[in-house]
Amino acid sequence: MHTVAVLSLKGGVGKTTVALGIASAALRRGSRALVADLDPQGNATATLDPPLTEATLTDVLETPRLAVIEQALAPSGWSEDLDVLVSSEDLELLNEPGPNSRRLDNLARALDELTTSPPGDPYEIAILDCPPSLGRLTRSALMAADTALLVTEPTMYAVSGAERALEAIETIRAEHNPRLRPAGVLVNRLRARSYEHQYRVQELRESFGRLVMPTAIPDRLAIQQAQGACVPIHEWKSPGAQEIGLTFNMVLAKILRSSRAGRHRLDHEQPETAEGAAAVETAETAPDEPAAAETTSEFPALRELAEREIG
Ligand SMILES: Nc1ncnc2c1ncn2[C@@H]1O[C@H](COP(=O)(O)OP(=O)(O)OP(=O)(O)O)[C@@H](O)[C@H]1O
Ligand SMILES: [Mg+2]
Repeated sequence: MHTVAVLSLKGGVGKTTVALGIASAALRRGSRALVADLDPQGNATATLDPPLTEATLTDVLETPRLAVIEQALAPSGWSEDLDVLVSSEDLELLNEPGPNSRRLDNLARALDELTTSPPGDPYEIAILDCPPSLGRLTRSALMAADTALLVTEPTMYAVSGAERALEAIETIRAEHNPRLRPAGVLVNRLRARSYEHQYRVQELRESFGRLVMPTAIPDRLAIQQAQGACVPIHEWKSPGAQEIGLTFNMVLAKILRSSRAGRHRLDHEQPETAEGAAAVETAETAPDEPAAAETTSEFPALRELAEREIG
């Protein structure tokens, strides 16, 4: 099972949208998937619309035993192949420093339990939807993850927000989870014709080079419509939804590729197909990527990982 944490420093930039888009792409690919909703707001849980459970992720983080995990796990309303570890408001208590937050490596334990003794067919991917901070819950996700996907909007503070999040990833990697890899920085809500957005994407590329994903998620009403109807984006019938579905396929492929490369480097791997890229209006931002070596000097360890494993 591959585990990806979807995080950002700021709220409302599209973490849940991206987590659900990746889940939708996994289903389209025929993969069995799990979404763990670490956000006390429970937006992913609400959109995935599972039946009521006897326990929640809060119980799992307190007692990461299979019996408890099974009580917090429910099939999503989307598909039998997508389960959700449900959120609850009291997760917030674990985000604060104090006695309740001691055992945040329990998420990693719980996911290990699920890998060794899955209640049904094994999951191929677990997607961790993080709350809007770099607090303890997000750090627990980073301790459990193989890759970390950073989501940002192309706005004024995108670079400084991404810097802080990448530093958090690097700290957890160095101190707790050596297998953690940055999957990249994913720009969401891009309006490709906006000069401001183009400028901000360029700024991100100058700061983080190849860590910035070559495809961005465009700003489309279809995303809100599909979420409102609790339907995977790949099943929403509109040209905008189709374009976004293709983009998420590419994001998922990139995540899985960076994880495979983390275990044993695949030198022959190719970038996304031209067809896939052409389907995304926002791929026009990709061509003049600056070399990572020149542009991510503040993050030598990440830069090295990016050069070896991303793209
Ligand atoms: N690419 C997009 N196009 C249009 N609307 C979007 C897009 N991405 C996200 N949204 C909308 O923006 C709002 C915030 O998105 P989302 O809930 O995914 O952000 P978040 O980072 O998970 O928020 P939080 O930090 O509160 O958890 C939602 O209403 C969502 O439908
Ligand atoms: Mg969210």
